[in-house]
Amino acid sequence: MQNPLSNATQYITTLAIRFWQQEGTLQTYLDFLLSEIDPMLSRKRNVAEVIQIIDETADTKTFVLRPSSRWQGFVAGQYINVETEINGVMIRRNYSISCAPKLFREQQLISITVKKIEGGRASTHLHERLIVGDTLTIGLASGDFTLQQPISTQPPAKPLFIAAGSGITPIMSMIKQIKEETPEQSISLIYYVNNPQALIFESQLQTLSKSMPNFSFYPHFTESEGYITSQQLQLDCPDIAERTLYLCGPQGFMKSASAHCLDLGLAPERMHQESFGSYVPANFQPGTAGQIRFLNSGKYIESNGKKTVLELAESAGLNPKYGCRSGICHECKCTKSTGQVLNRLTGELIPDDQTHIQACISIPVGDLSIESL
Ligand code: FES
Repeated sequence: MQNPLSNATQYITTLAIRFWQQEGTLQTYLDFLLSEIDPMLSRKRNVAEVIQIIDETADTKTFVLRPSSRWQGFVAGQYINVETEINGVMIRRNYSISCAPKLFREQQLISITVKKIEGGRASTHLHERLIVGDTLTIGLASGDFTLQQPISTQPPAKPLFIAAGSGITPIMSMIKQIKEETPEQSISLIYYVNNPQALIFESQLQTLSKSMPNFSFYPHFTESEGYITSQQLQLDCPDIAERTLYLCGPQGFMKSASAHCLDLGLAPERMHQESFGSYVPANFQPGTAGQIRFLNSGKYIESNGKKTVLELAESAGLNPKYGCRSGICHECKCTKSTGQVLNRLTGELIPDDQTHIQACISIPVGDLSIESL
């Protein structure tokens, strides 16, 4: 015969689990209480504790993080969204994971490497305020800038990595993965930075090139050598047409690097790229000043015709949704009620009657009202 007490306990436990799995105000409140005791106990957010902070260069740091147990891992080359509260406003930014997946598999750690951007609120906050023991809210890993085929295929693919500045971070994760899985594989890295002091991961890259017999590393310094050219690419990688390219850097750099690679015979389908930062065409004409009203919240802000709708919303104290901040992912899509905007990438004028816009690449032309963000 069944023990009525154990039946009751089982029933209450089932109810408690169901309750915990449901969205609701009380559950949110309990989660808030747990988070107050220890942020890592949150069941609703992915949280990561800062375990170590490493100075890479004068303006770049690596943050080693231990995500809470519900975080699900990553593939080399992916990024996470990091959320920080700055003066009461939630700021979210994407940062590439710079370590190999093995670090997470074996030690439940990940690292992100962040360059401090002049005037950048999130990167400045991380550099100047974050200390070991702090916690950050992070998203699940995402992005498809990853090694495109099993790296152990025969004959092995020959990856060519081209990076500029902090574009090295996802590539570093991929190279470390190759080192762990197929260290004999032939790979090349061409890395552009302003000067030798700006070389991120210098000692790690030197060590990798010594321990991987077929790893060729070509650092270049734009202040003394100038920008990327077809001639230089051909010199560094004579068999470029047979390679699979992984390219990451600011959009202007990527535009010229990819054009040179295509000129040298690389097939477009073997080109994989990820950009960061917003690309502003050299001939871009800003919008005109005006007042921007966010109808849902009742907030408004003056625009000088240079900032995007996304930046203006954040300056107005709102917490809009976004992902890439460069016109790729459409996460920032919002509804315009009245007014015109310029598409910052193309210079195209989006007229009054087109209501859906991407906040991260839309610059108001005069007065504008946004229905929902
Ligand atoms: S945030 Fe990705 S398109 Fe705007």
